[in-house]
Amino acid sequence: MDRRERELIEKLSDKGSLSIEDYEQLIVLRDDEAKDLLALLATQKRKAIFGNAIYTRGLIEISSICKNNCMYCGIRRDNINAERYRLSKEEILTCADEGYELGFRTFVLQGGEDAFFSDDVLCDIVASLKKDHPDCAVTLSMGERSRESYKALYESGADRYLLRHETADRAHYEMLHPKDMSFDNRMRCLTDLKDIGYQVGCGFMVGSPFQTAKTLAQDLFFIKQFKPDMCGIGPFIPHHSTPFKDEAKGSLELTLFLLSVIRLMQPDILLPATTALGSIDPKGREKGILAGANVVMPNLSPVSVRKKYELYDNKICTGEESAQCRECLDKRMEAIGCRLVVDRGDAPRTKGQN
Ligand code: SAM
Ligand code: FES
Repeated sequence: MDRRERELIEKLSDKGSLSIEDYEQLIVLRDDEAKDLLALLATQKRKAIFGNAIYTRGLIEISSICKNNCMYCGIRRDNINAERYRLSKEEILTCADEGYELGFRTFVLQGGEDAFFSDDVLCDIVASLKKDHPDCAVTLSMGERSRESYKALYESGADRYLLRHETADRAHYEMLHPKDMSFDNRMRCLTDLKDIGYQVGCGFMVGSPFQTAKTLAQDLFFIKQFKPDMCGIGPFIPHHSTPFKDEAKGSLELTLFLLSVIRLMQPDILLPATTALGSIDPKGREKGILAGANVVMPNLSPVSVRKKYELYDNKICTGEESAQCRECLDKRMEAIGCRLVVDRGDAPRTKGQN
């Protein structure tokens, strides 16, 4: 590692932020030694706040129907080969019941932008879930909606919302999305969600087509300004029926590096070791935790639909039952000296507010 890189890492660790130019240089100059030092500092910060606790969220993939056409995504509307499904309210509540028995206290309802889930339908599902399990947090990840819709869902009991910003660079955003989607609306959604009172997660794919050290520096700068409660980053993995089918997948090494950087920028952030990370490397999630992540999100969807929620090729955990995933992650975390905790795992700064 050269002197400049060491200086940048020390500055980041002390101050928690860098200029856009410095973030870019930090990324460009990185080598294995820099990655190891960042991981060490990041895990020290994680342990200082969370000890060896790793939070777990049960992911329920409620619909593979989507009106959008994101270039990277396997469930984009133009993918005529995609198998579509939608879970009923009863199926969703059953998944949550099973998850509750397994110890989950946060449920994440994620899906494509499926018009069936109108405000009335989704508010009813959220309210029923909260009524059945008042001690649980409900996270939604259902894409872009109006401010009124986000407000209604919040009032019906949703606590958190995940909406990756995907990239903080406007021109890059436009290369990843068709013309009917806009960077401004994405940013509007994130601002509205925060304003309304949700714990909010943003995030991006590492190695998405056309991404550069400069756009990544903009992502980091955006995250520092926006101060999300959560940040989902995982490698881009091509899907065989999308316009990006021949693009290279994102790197494990860069994803781990960025997880460490984000932990140092915001030590109390909730940072998942994502399924995509586990999909590009058999030990990806463990490596993510050892780089500074502190959340895992096992799948609680019915096994019968799991293969159909195919965002990218070779996604893991599509054949396992919820209990198997829970047990598997328990063991994986134990093997690296961590422990899965079952409480709601609110962002430290918002604890007790929701
Ligand atoms: N519709 C919701 C939304 O847009 O936020 C939730 C579902 S969307 C499929 C969830 C996330 O999957 C996206 O934010 C994107 O970053 C990620 N994703 C989609 N396609 C991917 C791919 N090919 N590789 C890795 N991640 C992908
Ligand atoms: Fe699903 Fe390991 S987490 S099988």
